[in-house]
Amino acid sequence: GATGLVIGAAGGVGISSVVSGDDTTGASGAGGPQALTSVGATEVMFHGKHQAGITEPLQSRGHLIAFDLAPGAGRKEAMALLRRWSATAKVLMAGKAPAEDTGIALDAGPSSLTITFGFGRTFFDRTGLASRRPGQLDPLPAFSSDALDPRRSEGDLWVQIGADDALVAFHALRAVQKDAGDAARVRWQMNGFNRSAGATAKPMTARNLMGQVDGTGNPKPTEPDFDRRIFVPAGATGAQEWMAGGSYAVVRRIRMLLDDWEKLPLDRQEKVIGRRKSDGAPLSGGSETTELDLNKFGTDGKAVIPDNAHSRISAPKQNGGAAMLRRPFSFHDGIGPDGTPDAGLLFVCWQADPLRGFVPVQRKLDRGDALSAFIRHESSGLFAVPGGPAEGEYVGQRLLE
Ligand code: HEM
Repeated sequence: GATGLVIGAAGGVGISSVVSGDDTTGASGAGGPQALTSVGATEVMFHGKHQAGITEPLQSRGHLIAFDLAPGAGRKEAMALLRRWSATAKVLMAGKAPAEDTGIALDAGPSSLTITFGFGRTFFDRTGLASRRPGQLDPLPAFSSDALDPRRSEGDLWVQIGADDALVAFHALRAVQKDAGDAARVRWQMNGFNRSAGATAKPMTARNLMGQVDGTGNPKPTEPDFDRRIFVPAGATGAQEWMAGGSYAVVRRIRMLLDDWEKLPLDRQEKVIGRRKSDGAPLSGGSETTELDLNKFGTDGKAVIPDNAHSRISAPKQNGGAAMLRRPFSFHDGIGPDGTPDAGLLFVCWQADPLRGFVPVQRKLDRGDALSAFIRHESSGLFAVPGGPAEGEYVGQRLLE
């Protein structure tokens, strides 16, 4: 019988008329296709100073995928591949279908799709471009707590896909894989997610799978030093010239030891980070956006934000100003062989130079912040993500031609 679902469908002919969208007698009186919801309609531009997928809000779905050039493939094949990938990214990000489409995203709009491309250290030898490899791509130092799987680390090429719809993201993933053709082979792939747009009453900082508000301390695009911290400057010279407007992405698959974490009482969980779980406010007081007071002491004489709290150790103030833009996805790949959830954070952070972003901060965290006991870094990648393509350009053209 009639239910609340059909309210607003004039004529009230039943649920099917609403679902099929053929109700031409509706309140608006307009025929034809209905407008997309705001989630589906949002489009991110492919061309621009920076590639898309760095400063845009976190999308609810993500795929990270690394490729190695196929044996025998070199600069020529790489050039053709980046041309194909760029053409595909432009079409898909506009919400259109490429030639010989799979149809996976047919009914959806762009859904904030971004496709971002980067080059790994090994790419440069294979393409005869070693002289143009920036020093910023030197291998990250080994950290004492690393448990890295080399097969799921690094790679010649890296693609980050994000969208606010799972089918739109998967559609893009298949298109990117298909374009690789004979030129490159998948080295590893990881799938992630964040909260869906509209799930909360108002837009909020994301939560991770430990339940923490995560992203509060990120540099903001409105801050005067944001560009300098995150992007390679326009006047870059030497081996970095082609990276003007680009950024370096550090990718870490960080497993969360959730069974252990969830046994920890709330007050101890909060001390691990130095922030309240409910709203992300510092334990030193205020609201989520209040600055940490690292010099506030309790009646017991101890720092209110403990000495080993994650947010104290990672704060730019404690690291000579080192800052990065963290833009992660959560992951959950079922239960691991050890019987615990194979879940955690696909940590992706962006900076103009890893030696002034990720490296000094991770060095300090690695000495044993309070979070270290509950996480394990399982894979690692470092990629040079060139600036955004100008109209008529493909991604990486300034390197490859
Ligand atoms: C802050 C969680 C790994 C760097 C935070 C905060 C949380 C958090 C809850 C406080 C809220 C915020 O400011 O965003 C985690 C979890 C991790 C992880 C669950 C692993 C699974 C890392 C790693 C790094 C890092 C590997 C870098 C090497 C930072 C930075 C801040 C931060 C720079 C902001 C500090 C500030 O500006 O005050 N993290 N984090 N985190 N984290 Fe992590």
